[in-house]
Amino acid sequence: MKKQYKYRKYETIDNTGIDSVDNHHLKYVQQINDLVDILNGEKERKFMLTIFHNILYYAEIYFIEEEMFYQKNDYPNLISHKKQHREFVEKISYHREAFQNNEDDICVKMMKFLDRWYKEHILKEDKNATKDI
Ligand SMILES: [Fe+2]
Repeated sequence: MKKQYKYRKYETIDNTGIDSVDNHHLKYVQQINDLVDILNGEKERKFMLTIFHNILYYAEIYFIEEEMFYQKNDYPNLISHKKQHREFVEKISYHREAFQNNEDDICVKMMKFLDRWYKEHILKEDKNATKDI
């Protein structure tokens, strides 16, 4: 039987309490779940391009918004945080290129990457950055 991937749940306990940040995080999880649909064969593989587009669009708008917000609130680790954002965009572009080159298992690799970012950046870095604001 083909492996079935599970949806990721957005837990309200993970809210930062800052609406603009939380709304974006929720949208991010929705992208992961669209990818789950592709992996489970419920959406066609060509929708990967929409996911890449949405995530890169999300990153472009959201990261700037988030960085400005942290800057306004004198977040001390802003430089390393910005660096992580840049690396995220580079990695997504890399995955998109690999997808266009029909690299094996790229959808699974992409999901692992998005999951890791969710756990390590969104739930840790962003949460730390917003906790004293
Ligand atoms: Fe961030």
